[in-house]
Amino acid sequence: MKKLFYSSDRRVFLKNMALGASALTLSPFFPACASSASVPVFSDIDIDVELQLSAVRDKAQILPGASTNVWRYQGELLKGPEDTLKIIPDSYLGPIIHLEKGQHVRINFANKLDEPSIIHWHGLHVPESADGHPRLAIAPGEQYTYDFTVLDRAGTYWYHPHPHGRTGPQVYYGLAGLIMIHDPEEEPLDLPQGQYDLPIVIQDRTFDQDNQFVYGGSNMDQMMGFLGTSLLINGRTQNDISVEARSYRLRLLNGSNSRIYKLAMSDGSPLVVIGTDGGLLEYPVEHNAVTIAPAQRIELWMDFSKYPVGEKVQLINQPNATPGGNNPFTVAAFSIDQEASGTTALPPRLSIITAHDPKEAVNANSPRQFSLQMGMGMIWNINGRTFEMEQVASDEKVRVGDLEVWQFTNLGGMGMGMLLPHPMHIHGLQFQIIERQIDPRYQDVYASVSDGLVDEGWHDTVLVMPGEQVKVLMRFEDFTGLYLYHCHNLEHEDMGMMRNFSVS
Ligand code: C2O
Ligand code: CU
Ligand code: CU
Repeated sequence: MKKLFYSSDRRVFLKNMALGASALTLSPFFPACASSASVPVFSDIDIDVELQLSAVRDKAQILPGASTNVWRYQGELLKGPEDTLKIIPDSYLGPIIHLEKGQHVRINFANKLDEPSIIHWHGLHVPESADGHPRLAIAPGEQYTYDFTVLDRAGTYWYHPHPHGRTGPQVYYGLAGLIMIHDPEEEPLDLPQGQYDLPIVIQDRTFDQDNQFVYGGSNMDQMMGFLGTSLLINGRTQNDISVEARSYRLRLLNGSNSRIYKLAMSDGSPLVVIGTDGGLLEYPVEHNAVTIAPAQRIELWMDFSKYPVGEKVQLINQPNATPGGNNPFTVAAFSIDQEASGTTALPPRLSIITAHDPKEAVNANSPRQFSLQMGMGMIWNINGRTFEMEQVASDEKVRVGDLEVWQFTNLGGMGMGMLLPHPMHIHGLQFQIIERQIDPRYQDVYASVSDGLVDEGWHDTVLVMPGEQVKVLMRFEDFTGLYLYHCHNLEHEDMGMMRNFSVS
């Protein structure tokens, strides 16, 4: 039995890096679309947190025997609170980045891979220059500087590569990490902290006989999305977690390329959801199961004090009709093997959410329509279009400040499409899910996951099941520029199920 244990990455790096210095001074003069553009906007004195993040090739001991070649983010804290970076021991995942709302953050990304890459801060409300659009991908050996202010609510966010056509393999080989934002609204709640605040990053992988990752690449894998044969939790196969008989905060991220999970407790006790993509809910909600699609985060309140010490309980995947979902399996096995050394109570109210009013949307009666379908050559598309690096169609232009309703329609088996779910993600903001409608012909597949959908709170990714129409409501605030919306099944994204929208 191994305890999930997080230690601070305390190596403080001297701020004299030959690599960073010249790029930093030169970059404001590069045009924003140049491949090596960096756009620092803060003067050094204003920076609260500065990080160096490098994407490197490395090895990780995942299975017994030969180590596995991985790609991973390595982090160094250049400036800021000592506990900003926390590494997960024995994991290929990048360091957990802890940020406070309001901090001015600079992150210097160094691409030490053999191919172009760029980092996207998934879920964060950041300026265009800091969003990691694929046109900003940098060549091997180059560096990109991100400057942004933390504007988001307390919650769980994440970072991953976003070069066009290569996001799937780069994430798969290991490039991903969590971001945890803290704010003054969360603080007085006294939620479980430290070792009682457990990240659970769920990813599926396939290994070959030499313990190396196998990444599909077949047409079928691209069309369906890659499904692995082994489950990794926080980059490890080891999924036994030793816990005290007390309450924990569990931060789930589905970091898988395409697999959807429907999670439940093995003893049938309900899951208490306290947060979603965009942070804490207003009130805790109980669900018998929770459905979590790629890129989504769900925070759970786990009260192990109701179990006697010595008991074991599992978080399991319930069989469902999403691809690869026919068999049950254990996601995490909790052993309640220690008395509580203290505990915290579930706050009846978690946060204040000022919801948008759908009636105030500029297009309240005529939502922007996005149909998710398969076109000629078995390529997934949105409204018949696939990704174009700089293009924005006339129906993809929004105005800054506007509140809008977008409707995603998964055309399922109509026409030549296949029946697949699409987790739709919109960059740079959090939205509310205001309506779902299912075509009765697809009710059975839908019913296998719908009781687990958590639609409360703020989201940046929404699961759109075959035959389903989902309406989301959002305001395009503060920043203008080019952002993305796409399917977060990474194989679908890489084949072009992604488009720009512009905010002006
Ligand atoms: Cu997590 Cu555009 O992606
Ligand atoms: Cu994103
Ligand atoms: Cu898709």
